[in-house]
Amino acid sequence: MSEGEEERDVIIAKVLRFDPTIDEEPHFETYEVPKYKVGRQTLAKVLEYIFESIDPSLAYYVTCNRALCNGCVAMINGKAGLLCMTETTDEVTIEPAANHRVIKDLMVVPEEEDRVQQQVLKRSGKSKYL
Ligand code: FES
Repeated sequence: MSEGEEERDVIIAKVLRFDPTIDEEPHFETYEVPKYKVGRQTLAKVLEYIFESIDPSLAYYVTCNRALCNGCVAMINGKAGLLCMTETTDEVTIEPAANHRVIKDLMVVPEEEDRVQQQVLKRSGKSKYL
């Protein structure tokens, strides 16, 4: 911490939100999340707090919580990382994984699944699933 900075007891989390059924464009929403006094606070825990205490419409995906499934990959302060393994900073920006089709907010279609879906759509002559 540099001189003049106060230690915060909240984390400022900017999350890119997008619901393709109602939004025309993605937009950031900013949340204040209580900072853990002790222990490791991952971004999965930050999102869990937002979902459970602030906004239950937030969509994200965390399953194994052990860096095994890669399901929670996202862009964290502009770099790819796992939500379940990345410890939060005082200010953090979270966006969906780059180059993935967004289902809603931070939920994306896994690359392999997306490739198969696109092939099925191409054969069926449809333009999209939704
Ligand atoms: S939840 Fe499985 S890698 Fe993060």
